[in-house]
Amino acid sequence: GDRQVFQASTTAPVNIAVIKYWGKRDPKLNLPTNSSLSVTLSQLDLRTHTTASCSSSFSSPDSLTLNGSPQDVSSARTQACLRELRQLRRQLEDSDTKLPKLSEMPLRIVSENNFPTAAGLASSAAGFAALVRVIADLYQLSSTPTELSRIARQGSGSACRSLFGGYVAWEKGTEADGSDSVAVEVAPVSHWPEMRALILVVSAEKKGVSSTSGMQATVATSTLFPERAERTVPKRMEEMKKAILDRDFDTFGKVTMRDSNSFHATCLDTDPPIFYMNDISRAAVRMVEEINQAAGKVIAAYTFDAGPNAVIYYLAENEHAVAGLFKNILGSKDGWAGSRGSAVQSNSEAQFN
Ligand code: PMV
Repeated sequence: GDRQVFQASTTAPVNIAVIKYWGKRDPKLNLPTNSSLSVTLSQLDLRTHTTASCSSSFSSPDSLTLNGSPQDVSSARTQACLRELRQLRRQLEDSDTKLPKLSEMPLRIVSENNFPTAAGLASSAAGFAALVRVIADLYQLSSTPTELSRIARQGSGSACRSLFGGYVAWEKGTEADGSDSVAVEVAPVSHWPEMRALILVVSAEKKGVSSTSGMQATVATSTLFPERAERTVPKRMEEMKKAILDRDFDTFGKVTMRDSNSFHATCLDTDPPIFYMNDISRAAVRMVEEINQAAGKVIAAYTFDAGPNAVIYYLAENEHAVAGLFKNILGSKDGWAGSRGSAVQSNSEAQFN
């Protein structure tokens, strides 16, 4: 009957870029100034779990809660995603008039993150990826992950990369309507399953400068930025894809660290300057350098997003030399969460604050 409630649930993982997205050529459509590349972290650790339901018995408008608090569903970003998904559903309903008219029903969306929101831990990436995936499931759309990535991108740029597991590129595209600015798989997890990420939670507080306003300021004022976007990143995208396909950790690690530093250099070159890394972040950089020096090769690679938290990539065979060392040093500090199991691409978290 028309009181029926339709429901779907899904989880989406966090992804951490090794070639950073920083800069929009079209802020409305979230079209980037450069391509980017990320590793999707295990679903078991950092993820958003989202349930979406719809029913003609629900009262309008649509609603969204995150970790129990009501969110503004009227934001242009969320509206863009919901509008596109409803349009795809409407096409199905038009071609098969027996289908229930889910596109006309109010939506109730309930999301839970199992990690700090907006601490530079890519919460918006998992959040919008889960939102788009779950509504696509609810609406029984046959869209591919790449097609859904075009929609998730409009919620949060980096979200487009969380539609895939493993190693993922977001190709910036050339079309003005964003139709070719989508995520594609570089390699599945199974291609290089030994990759691990250690997350050092320097601060779980909300970040100071949002990625959107930070990017706008960098694009508008940094003179280093054009060099990065037009020359440095295109070259590194190719080096990084090859490193992943060759399972070449040395190149993967070097390019990851240099790209993180390049991104933070353009932040410092922004007027007024933007600081995401702090003294503890820089201590983590020095620790990684010491680990690599002691090993005589690159076995650990740091990267930082729009916040002070470090993500350190390494291979399982170096778990002891990398995660073990951080654990020894931080073990006595409050909140050390320890290593979390041995699942593929598992993450550990260390709390510094
Ligand atoms: O997707 P946004 O708008 O939260 O931007 C993410 C920007 C970085 O995390 C710093 C880099 C990236 O590619 O994920």
